[in-house]
Formats: sequence, C-alpha cells, structure tokens
Amino acid sequence: MHMEEKPAILGGKPIFEEQIPIIRPTIKDYATEQFMEKIRKILESNRVTNSENVKMLEAKIAEYSGVKEAVCVSSCTSGLVLAIQALGLQGKEVLVPSFTFHSTAHACKWNNCKIKFIECNEKTFNVSIGDLEEKITRETAGIIGVHVFGNPCETKKIQEIADARGIKIVYDSAHGLGATQSGKKVGSFGTCEVFSASPTKLLVTMEGGIVTTNDSELAKKLRIARNYGDSGNYDCEFAGLNARMEEINATLGIEMLSKINEYVANRNEYANKYTARLEKIPGITFQEITHDSTSTYKDFAILINEEKFGVGRNEVYEALKKENIASKKYFHPPVHQQKAYRTGETMLNTEKISNSVLCVPIYSKMTDETINGVCKAVAQIQNYAEEIKKNSKVMNWKLR
Ligand SMILES: Cc1ncc(COP(=O)(O)O)c(C=O)c1O
Repeated sequence: MHMEEKPAILGGKPIFEEQIPIIRPTIKDYATEQFMEKIRKILESNRVTNSENVKMLEAKIAEYSGVKEAVCVSSCTSGLVLAIQALGLQGKEVLVPSFTFHSTAHACKWNNCKIKFIECNEKTFNVSIGDLEEKITRETAGIIGVHVFGNPCETKKIQEIADARGIKIVYDSAHGLGATQSGKKVGSFGTCEVFSASPTKLLVTMEGGIVTTNDSELAKKLRIARNYGDSGNYDCEFAGLNARMEEINATLGIEMLSKINEYVANRNEYANKYTARLEKIPGITFQEITHDSTSTYKDFAILINEEKFGVGRNEVYEALKKENIASKKYFHPPVHQQKAYRTGETMLNTEKISNSVLCVPIYSKMTDETINGVCKAVAQIQNYAEEIKKNSKVMNWKLR
C-alpha cells in the first residue's frame, strides 16, 4: 500500500528544502575569541610546529587512551606509513582487510609490503577472524586491523593469533578515537594504533594523525621518523618523512578532546534512533557492534538487501539525492578491486557488503528532524520501490 507522499524521484516534493550533508564537522564551534587568542599566541611565539601544544596533545591523548605514548603526526596515512616502517615490516607479508579506506593499503604499499587481502566479517564489517587464520602463513609479519566506522575489531582473538606467531599488529584506528572494548579505550590495542584527526572525524586537528602505543622504543623511533629520520644530529639512520603536526592543529585537537565523550554519546543516541525506525523497513540491516564494545559511529551504515527492499543500494542513493539527502557508498569499490590493487581475486563477503552498504548522515550534533526526515525518505523509497525500479529501467534504457 502506498503512503500519500511520493518520493521526489517520482515527482514528489523533496523532504528537505536544503541539502542535508553526509557529515557536519563541529569545527566552527571552536571559532571563539578565546581560541583565536591561542592562535595569536602561537604565531607570536614563532614556534608553529611540533612544540608545546603538540606535546600537550600527546600527553592528553596518551592519558585518554590509557597508553604510555602518543605521537602526533601529519595524518593517519603518514602515521601508518611510519609505524609499518618502524616495526620493520618493509618488504614483508602483511594481511590487510579489503573493506577499508584505500590509504590503509597505501601505507603498506609505500613500505613495499606483500599485501594479502583479507575478507571482512559480514556482520561487524571488520576483519574476518576465519579468513585471517586461513590466509596467515609463516611468512606473515604483520596484521593491519581497521575499526570500521568506529566499531572495534575482535582485538583479543587477533592478539592471540599474532602472539602465537610473533606477528605485529597495527590498527588503523582512523575512525576509532572514543570507542571502547571490554572497558578499555581503543588506542591501547595491538602493537600500536593510528588515529586520524582530519575534518571528517570526531576529533579534528584540521589535518593530523596520532599514533598510540605502550612501546616506548617504537614511540622514540616514530618521533625521529616524523622528523625526516633525523634524531637531531643531521646524520639520518633511516629515511623518514616530514610528518610533523603544526601547533595550531594541536591546539584545536586539545580543545576538541574535551568534547569527545559527549560526541560519542550523541552519535550512539542518534544511531539508536535511526535503528529503531529503520529496522521496521523490509530489507534494511545494520553493522553489528562487536561484543562488549562501543562504537564511535564515525559513520552510520545501513545495508540494503535489494530483493527484500525492492530496489538496490544505487537506486536508494539516487532517490535520497532527490530528497536533498547526501549519502555515501562507503567503502566502494573495496580496495582489492581498485585500479591500484586489482588482484583479480573474488572476496564474496567484502563485495557483498561493499555493493549493499550506504552511509547516511550522522554528526556529533544533529536534530531529530534530520534523523526523522532521513528515515521517512528511506521508508517512502521502499514503499514506492516497484515504481522506482520501473522508472530507473526506463531511464537506463533511454541513456543507452
Ligand atoms: C580507515 C581509514 N584509514 C585511514 C584514513 C586516512 O586518514 P588521513 O586522512 O588522516 O590520512 C582514513 C580517512 O578517512 C580512513 O577512513
């Protein structure tokens, strides 16, 4: 039975008059007089990079994450590159999930690692323990885990697998700052973890990344590595990068860290609201949060089962666009199918998730009106799925 209102893609009135973005950073909340004063002081000090504020952010992140060391870098990507290098994984076999942002793999490639792609768990979207166990060999030197959308990996199982073989674990924690597992903060798992603080994240340093670890030797190496590999005597022991963090960036990070728990709590509340409404719609399922864990919900993802919903993910994406709602096919295509990596292998779970996932708007602060509007749009699209399907076939035919 049809509801009264037609989806905009069939000529109805769009649910939102103005564009609803996929993300809405809280950065502008920090454009206060007090913050401008801090920037002025940094400029006046002439010490604009890798100085007092960077040290302070490192201390605060280490305390927050419950680890000995935090090392600020210029991005999560550079942090991953340097961590993989510092752990001696260059040229060696590493296991990397394919359902991730491409830069997880880039960091391995920059280290000439032999990348072996691993399937994702269909429910949590994180690395599949079964596939990890199957693909691991005597040659494997490293495992890269990704806490996808802020949902912590099965860290205990991964640690057991790694410990039994003396393998290093690097977590790409780009989405993970503020997540927890078994009462511990993400940031304290594996050999080290690497956060991103780019503008799409909960904690922003404009651009930036932070490596956390309990290994003080590793932290020492990373501090040299981010400074070209120069320990201060101009006689480099290895080739590093300029991957330092700027002082103004670090100041913003310090400010935002005080709000991170509030942001995580808000996002969990919004995710619960989304779930309560969307679970009633046939063909919609959700990322399952790992046992004993809290996600940051950096992204809120729905899976669309075309058979049950009536139309597929791509049609829903187009139909939401007409309602002025931005959504994101994320991560699509999976890394093993991207031009830079195309391996020709089939990864059934990963491809299935990648072809049916759609991230809908979620922010650190959002209104019920936005959540309700998005849910209403999805419900309407499902209600009119048959007509939308017919229409899209005609459109595709005309475009041919
Ligand atoms: C899973 C994952 N890893 C790495 C990165 C790269 O982070 P950065 O932009 O800080 O280098 C991102 C960026 O969004 C990401 O989503």
